[in-house]
Amino acid sequence: MIENLSLHFHLFAAIAWIGGSIFMAMIGLFLRDKDAQNVVYPKIGPIFGYYQLVSLMILIASGVILAQGFSLFGPLFDGSNMEIVDVLQKKLILVTIVVVLTIVHFVIAIQTNGKERTKLQYIVSRASSLLILLLNLWILHYAIVIREIL
Ligand code: HEM
Repeated sequence: MIENLSLHFHLFAAIAWIGGSIFMAMIGLFLRDKDAQNVVYPKIGPIFGYYQLVSLMILIASGVILAQGFSLFGPLFDGSNMEIVDVLQKKLILVTIVVVLTIVHFVIAIQTNGKERTKLQYIVSRASSLLILLLNLWILHYAIVIREIL
């Protein structure tokens, strides 16, 4: 029952999290006008930030419940060479990188919301969001492989 509910939450949060990052990438690509950016980003930035933060927390919490429900944590930490453990391990490494990049991106966003960014802040912010998007698609691939094995 709890696993079933967790799977619903996990999938819903994955849609919200990945969909959100694709949408923001589209805004970054197509909203090129500086004046429009200065109006749009300060308004939607904080809303989007909290929305992504909640999605990511639900993803991780429900993912932990799912992995626990399938008894995957034992084999994960005792060096088992089961295929599913190997894939979960790769997925979790990518999730950890995404969490670190998200924190970096958030810190810059909070420090610079409504202000001018330095060149370094601009590059790190852009690069982290692009990497988060690409890694999300890679995580999705591992998630599908895990489902196939289960
Ligand atoms: C950015 C973070 C994450 C994303 C985008 C994500 C995405 C997904 C998606 C879309 C599925 C469903 C795959 C399918 O049904 O074909 C899934 C399944 C699963 N995820 Fe995650 N996940 C994330 C983090 C985690 C974490 C942190 C864990 C464990 C600690 C985890 C454990 C699992 C497990 C065990 C399944 C298989 C459940 C099942 O299909 O019944 N996930 N994930």
